[in-house]
Amino acid sequence: MKQILDEAIKGGYGVGAFNVNNMEQIQGIMQAASETKSPVIIQASRGALKYTKMLYLKYLMVAAAEDNPEIPIALHLDHGNNFETCRQAIELGFTSVMIDGSLKEDSKTHTAFEENVEVTAKVVEYAHKFGVTVEGELGTLGGIEDGVGSGNILLTDPDDAERFVKLTGVDALALAIGTSHGAYKFKQAPVLAMDIITEVKKRLPATPLVMHGSSSVPENLIDIINKYGGTLKHAMGVPIKSIQEAIKRGVKKINVDTDGRLAITGAIRKYMAEHTDVIDPRDYFGEARKAVYETVKSKMIDFGTAGHAGDYKPKTLSDMIEIYKSKYIKKIF
Ligand code: G3H
Ligand code: 13P
Ligand code: ZN
Repeated sequence: MKQILDEAIKGGYGVGAFNVNNMEQIQGIMQAASETKSPVIIQASRGALKYTKMLYLKYLMVAAAEDNPEIPIALHLDHGNNFETCRQAIELGFTSVMIDGSLKEDSKTHTAFEENVEVTAKVVEYAHKFGVTVEGELGTLGGIEDGVGSGNILLTDPDDAERFVKLTGVDALALAIGTSHGAYKFKQAPVLAMDIITEVKKRLPATPLVMHGSSSVPENLIDIINKYGGTLKHAMGVPIKSIQEAIKRGVKKINVDTDGRLAITGAIRKYMAEHTDVIDPRDYFGEARKAVYETVKSKMIDFGTAGHAGDYKPKTLSDMIEIYKSKYIKKIF
């Protein structure tokens, strides 16, 4: 993932990191990546690994990489909650892990800066020996309206971000700028703390920044769900224009889960409603796969990722082991 994001800095574009739980999501994403010639990050949460019993998802992700040798692809653990989860993911073959040390192991309680540094540095030291990229997080997600904090938001402090990256050696840093996970992010047009991206970028020009909670929650997807029996409240996500602004300022990894979920749910509801005699899951799962493909394809175009798959030769973990080794040797001498 480090190579994918470093190349994105050079090329001035963003790369979507799409959450996956099953074959249809993976195939929809890979079809979009292959058609648009986009590098891609497919990521699994701890919930996804539990749902699929780990090994199944691992082999689906590996199949995606094998089936698309021309596409740079990273297999990433999303929101690892402790060292052990990251270690397991590395053992399983993930090429990148996130250690979310901004929260304690319960994934709910804020940690102190020092505690975050300690667990993140430990994961970095371990992961780099295997050539695996590490994403850390400083600050916690939440929602802000009219510039006033609400919920559990803790925006990232740019000076702390600089200290954090230097102390831990993380390859990529997730910032809290006012986004939140899920379909209900904002009641009105979002106020995001874009200046934080600019300030962090000034201090850490070589570090790719990450934006979580980046789904746009498109109205048309909510409408399809509700038209076919759903009861979702209308809420707002992060508009594409804001994501493009964030990319310009330094965000290079854009995490998207919810929009894929909305696309799948709408497609299945619609198909079921229009074909009340359907019994073959391939019919509606096939529609779901197509909906993921369409959603992801438009993001690859909007984030500027499209067309960049051939810019460089993807590095393997063995290549990365040597690169990290030489970085450490330089540090010692
Ligand atoms: O960041 C959170 C992702 O949306 C994953 O959600 O834990 O329900 O799989 P999940
Ligand atoms: P969304 O819920 O906005 O899709 O965010 C997903 C995410 O940040 C995964 O880590
Ligand atoms: Zn997230």
